Parts: sequence; C-alpha cells; structure tokens
Amino acid sequence: MNAHVPLDLSPPSSGGNPAAIVVRDRRFGRGQAQERWWLNGDPVATAWFNALSATFPRGETLFVDAVKAFRDDAPPALAEEIRGFIRQEINHTREHLAFNRAAADAGYDLSRIDARVERLIGQVYARPRPAWLAVTIALEHFTAMFAHEFLRHPEHFVGADNEQAELWRWHAVEEIEHKGVAYDTWLHATRSWSRWKRWKVKSLLMLVITRRFIRNRFVDACDLLAQDGIAGPRAKARLVWYLVGKPGILRRVFPAWCAYFLPGFHPWNRDDRALIGAYDRAHG
Ligand SMILES: [Fe+2]
Ligand SMILES: [Fe+2]
Repeated sequence: MNAHVPLDLSPPSSGGNPAAIVVRDRRFGRGQAQERWWLNGDPVATAWFNALSATFPRGETLFVDAVKAFRDDAPPALAEEIRGFIRQEINHTREHLAFNRAAADAGYDLSRIDARVERLIGQVYARPRPAWLAVTIALEHFTAMFAHEFLRHPEHFVGADNEQAELWRWHAVEEIEHKGVAYDTWLHATRSWSRWKRWKVKSLLMLVITRRFIRNRFVDACDLLAQDGIAGPRAKARLVWYLVGKPGILRRVFPAWCAYFLPGFHPWNRDDRALIGAYDRAHG
C-alpha cells in the first residue's frame, strides 16, 4: 500500500438515532421465587445469563456516567437522546438488581463476581472521561449484538421461565433502540481528533475489552457452576460448547463484532428496528 494514501476512516454520513427512544418502565418477577436454573433447567445457560446480569448494575452506571459527562456539550437532539438513554439504563439496572437478588435468594453467591466488576470498573473511572466513553461504546456494541441475537433467534429462551425471559427481551429491545447514542456521543466528544486517532483508540479498546469481557464472564460463569457442583475441565468444556457450539452466542455475534473495526462503522449500519416493532406489537 502507498504509505502516503490515508486510510478512509471517515465517520458515517448520517448521525442521530433512527429509533425513537421509548422508556418502557416495566418490572419483572416481583414477589415470585426465581427457579435456580430458570433457563430451561440448564445450569450452564443459567450460569452464563446470571453472570452477565451480575455485571449490569455497575456496568450500566458507568455507561450513564460516560454519556452524562458530555451531555451539556452535546447538540440539543443528541442531548435529548442521552436523556432517553439514561432513563432506559437506570430502569435496566433496577430490574437486574431485582434479578440478581432473586438469583441470590435461589442460593447463588454473587459477591465475588461483584467484587471483580467493582475493581475493573474502578480502573475505568481512574482514566480520563473520553476513555469512559471508549469503554462504553465497546460494551454497548456487545449489548447490541447480544440483543439482536436474542430477539432474532427466540430459541435462546426456549424453556425459560416467563418472567426471566421477559426481562431479557425487554432489556434487549431497549438496547437496540439506544445503540447509537453512546456512539454518537463519542463521535461528538472526539470531533477534534483525527480520524486515525479515533479509529485507533476505539479499536484498541475494543480488543482489550473483548479479551477481558470473555475471560471474566467465563470465570464468573464457572464460579456459579461450581456452586452447582459442576467444576473442573468438564464444566469448562460444557461452557465453551454453549458459547461457541450450540447455541453458540459468541460464534454467532462474531461477524457483527468484526464490523466494529470497519471504516465508517456505526451501530445503525445494521438497521434492526424491525425487532423493536415486533416486540412492541406483541406487548402492545
Ligand atoms: Fe441496559
Ligand atoms: Fe445500553
């Protein structure tokens, strides 16, 4: 390649979140006991989702703080979207705190997971604010990828207890709905950066975040499986098969993960608003 030809790392031509952000203030599973293996009686699937949920309250608090830090400086339309984003994430945190309490009532000790998450998020808060946003857009891409996968392929929740499955579907819809907000905030906050610097920082962060995300959620799920008496190489093999074999959540989101590194990436380059419409029609 000619070294004098700059890479085309231009931002997307269109900005703004194409989906109106609707705050669906719903509650799930209150006053009901949560089955220990609520996902189809499967300890492995349950451990994976419980491990994800255990990270949400602290993770989503970081996301809120990251976009809030740039809200006052944002153009009015983006500022309004940030407000919608924050209201949705606050509700998600409330419901996942309830979900996590129910998992604890079902006998799981989530304290070690929570301590790990607290330590890692503390490392992010120690960095400058643009770094909070770079971490947030990477993790919001993960939530948008998972959300698309869960809604597009309902078999992920076949056999799940209804209230728990409804919580995850509700969360997935709103994650798709606001998936462009943190990214647009990032584009605005780094508008004085060169395209190369912006691409380099977000891409390097994504690689770091991906490695940590997969490793830590794996450790967390193994922690929960050990509490079910499922441990050692067999537990790890079952979890690996669940994640990359069948149903293979990580395998199935891999193409969308790769898209993050493309020049001109924007979360809404994949328009999956139809999944939101289908959910709203079914829950009208
Ligand atoms: Fe959320
Ligand atoms: Fe989100």
